[in-house]
Amino acid sequence: MTTSYRTSVSNVLVIGTGGAGMRAAIAAHQAGCEVTLIGKRLRKDAHTVLAAGGINAALATVDIDDTWQWHYADTIRDGYFLNNSRMVEIMAQSAPNAVKELAEWGCNFARRDDGRLDQRFFGAHRYRRTCYAGDYTGRAILYTLADRVNELGIQIHDYQYVSRLLVKDHQCFGALAFDIHTGERTVYLADAIILAAGGHTRLWRRSSSRRDENTGDGYALALQAGATLADMELVQFHPTGMTHPEEMAGTLVTEAVRGEGGHLLNAAGERFMARYDSERMELSTRDRVALANYTEIIEGRAGEHGGVFLDISHREKDFILTKLPRMYRQFMESQMLDISQKPMEVSPTAHYSMGGVVVDPETTATEVAGLYAAGEVTAGLHGANRLGGNSLVETVVFGRRAGEQAAAFSGAINVQMRDKAVIQAANDALSSLIHDGGEMARPLQRAVRNTMWEYCGVVRNQERLEAGLQRLQELKEAAERVDVRPSSEGWQDLATALDLQGALYAAEATIRCALERRESRGAHQRYDYPEVDPAQVVNYTIRLNENGQQVLGRSAVPGIPDELRSYVEDDPQLLFKGRLLE
Ligand code: FUM
Repeated sequence: MTTSYRTSVSNVLVIGTGGAGMRAAIAAHQAGCEVTLIGKRLRKDAHTVLAAGGINAALATVDIDDTWQWHYADTIRDGYFLNNSRMVEIMAQSAPNAVKELAEWGCNFARRDDGRLDQRFFGAHRYRRTCYAGDYTGRAILYTLADRVNELGIQIHDYQYVSRLLVKDHQCFGALAFDIHTGERTVYLADAIILAAGGHTRLWRRSSSRRDENTGDGYALALQAGATLADMELVQFHPTGMTHPEEMAGTLVTEAVRGEGGHLLNAAGERFMARYDSERMELSTRDRVALANYTEIIEGRAGEHGGVFLDISHREKDFILTKLPRMYRQFMESQMLDISQKPMEVSPTAHYSMGGVVVDPETTATEVAGLYAAGEVTAGLHGANRLGGNSLVETVVFGRRAGEQAAAFSGAINVQMRDKAVIQAANDALSSLIHDGGEMARPLQRAVRNTMWEYCGVVRNQERLEAGLQRLQELKEAAERVDVRPSSEGWQDLATALDLQGALYAAEATIRCALERRESRGAHQRYDYPEVDPAQVVNYTIRLNENGQQVLGRSAVPGIPDELRSYVEDDPQLLFKGRLLE
């Protein structure tokens, strides 16, 4: 059994090669640090490539009255006031420069005839503020950042699976990782560590994440290191995932289809959003559109594959090929469906984790010294419902902050910590997972996904959540008997076993918080508590106690500053207010 390890030393270690990790690495490098960037997938293939429809910034290119304050207000209101106001303020203020910077670095955003960045409608934004590159915006951004990382000579190590963060006396000093192909272990020592490891939406049967990504491992690492999670119950179900074929079910059908004029229809051909939000129709908030689709489906107005229909066939084929090229190809290749001729069948899919690691908005620091976090792995920005297009901007705004702050932390310390006993314990813990056993990780992962879908899905109730928690306990016990045998095929078994462990931590935290939130708010809908409870403007938190058990807490949501209050209180109907240049 391999128990030796290599050692890599740098100032800043970044875990995760998606948008947040890449942007953090660039910032730390530019601040003069030696940076190491590691990811469990191949670079340029992190989950960010799947983000489709756009990135928000109040550039006022198309709707000239837009300002960062309106972006702030839309985000707070559509987060049902559970957001961390300061995080939202930072995001909305920083977004225009962050997007312009990406454009300067070569990101091929769509432009208007006069050369300025184009902006499209996305759900529940009062102005058009979503910049885009067709319907592959995440890929365009990730490739831009990865090329920049490459130009700057920042080291990236692919296929590195982090099994544990190294922590001594509440200070993080690195991570232990192994190579998924060779099994080679590396102790990555660093002054500061940035966790940018994504969320946990692969834990639901229908998910817009691919296999082996967004498995909740980032949350497990953070919890074990001593950090706190918040808002884990707030999981966004995107209204439109593919329904078939089975291997594609859940795959994202971008909101840009609706932003470019797509209509939602039920099996009877009715444009049903008129019954749910007659003003905003298909561009209502994501939680409402998801709930509308879900309701149409469970009330029996679904199509052959159990979905409702999304129709863009009234637009010209050339328009669709320009604005939605990936969608056109996706349906043609998987279903032989020409979306310029026929509607797509769609249903809700788990899409985004709005909860995660608690960080300081200014610094992105967690409660563990030296440990920073950015991107989907964090809590705070989105509240109970994320606006489409805010996740990509979150990655670059807070990724940059994390890189700068980690670099400052590195610059301020005198000696780099290295505790051999902590390293040995992490190494032994990893070795202890390699054994024969009566269970296989893949079916248990499937069982977790089924459990979360059935017991903690789009609409929840106490009885089902409690049953889900009980089921997770059984799966946890089974997970201890998982067979892990590295072979000539590689060390995927070990990665899958750790993904399963991470999933079980994240799933338990989610259900514990979901049980505690006895109300319906945004993405968290309960049959037994169908109303918003004004007393629950709080964030539910999870920590591990000294016995490794999850402990639930609550914290107050920070207030809205006086100077921004009038924006948030304006316009209770949140109607679009776009004033066009043309
Ligand atoms: O539908 C979409 O294109 C998703 C965008 C987002 O989640 O921000």
